[in-house]
Amino acid sequence: MRALVVDPAAPEAVRLADVPQPTAGGGVLVEVRHASLNHGDLNDARSGRLPAGAVLGSDVAGVVLWGGSLAPGTRVVAMARGGFAERVVVAADSLAEVPAMVDLAAAAALPVAGVAALRALRAAGSLLGKRVLVTGASGGVGRFAVRLAAIAGAHVIASVGSPARAVRSGAHEVVVGLDGVGGPVDVVLDSVGGRQLVAAWELLAPGGSLQSVGWTSGEPAVFPPYSTIGPAKSLTSFLNTGPVGAELADLVRLVESGDLPVEIGWRGPLERFDEAAEALRGRRVDGKAILDVSTPA
Ligand SMILES: NC(=O)c1ccc[n+]([C@@H]2O[C@H](COP(=O)([O-])OP(=O)(O)OC[C@H]3O[C@@H](n4cnc5c(N)ncnc54)[C@H](OP(=O)(O)O)[C@@H]3O)[C@@H](O)[C@H]2O)c1
Repeated sequence: MRALVVDPAAPEAVRLADVPQPTAGGGVLVEVRHASLNHGDLNDARSGRLPAGAVLGSDVAGVVLWGGSLAPGTRVVAMARGGFAERVVVAADSLAEVPAMVDLAAAAALPVAGVAALRALRAAGSLLGKRVLVTGASGGVGRFAVRLAAIAGAHVIASVGSPARAVRSGAHEVVVGLDGVGGPVDVVLDSVGGRQLVAAWELLAPGGSLQSVGWTSGEPAVFPPYSTIGPAKSLTSFLNTGPVGAELADLVRLVESGDLPVEIGWRGPLERFDEAAEALRGRRVDGKAILDVSTPA
């Protein structure tokens, strides 16, 4: 089958290859129709975290071929290792059914970014009436976080990198950087790190919490002396781990009801992976990047 595998010698450290088909084992064998590209996939390819030859990718949507309790042909979305391939084995507790009303390409956008946004916001407690700041709000995690925080009743402030990125955010306020944030915030979901994390920490009200989800800036965060001394507030690290089936089901329901629109900013076949990777790294994707993997027979 065709798959995108790690190749340190390739320009994006990824190449299209012919690899053996996986066997279901104890999981569910899924025919992948669409996969979505995450910032983490780009890191996985280049960091050495995945060995050369390993199939890249985590977010898939497709149909069940075999295994688990769902009938073959059931449409599903899942988080799975090795998702950029025509077939992948998925853990039965990390998938959710996709109703006919929901586009499979949109569903493919949900796992890594959607689950991270949902879990990080839930970790912050009730958001009703709270001021929630989302950094990297034009990115995959950020867009979902803005919508989910608004659904939960928060006043959402979306921080983006440039005025061009401010369009269509769905937030109550959109700011470029953090200078325009007028007053303290109760919750921060930060996916940028570096100087923005430090600035966001300073905006946090007593009792507030900052969830550190990502670090796209790649910059160190230098806290001025005594900036962590004062009324209690918290900085919490975050990692998507364990089964994600329940959260995927919640996200699919929100997409089905129309409350969680999925914006697709780039779409193309596996062969155009390098183009998608360059666009994502260059901050030129307005929404999620979706790879079309296979078509129904
Ligand atoms: N902890 C976890 O389990 C988990 C799960 C998912 C994602 N993540 C991490 O979360 C981060 C975001 O992931 P993503 O999929 O949302 O990425 P993404 O779609 O590429 O979005 C990242 C956003 O960050 C902003 N950005 C990029 N480079 C920046 C820079 N140098 N300085 C300031 N802002 C910058 C960009 O917004 P502008 O163009 O508007 O500046 C971009 O829209 C990544 O670090 C990823 O690895 C972690």
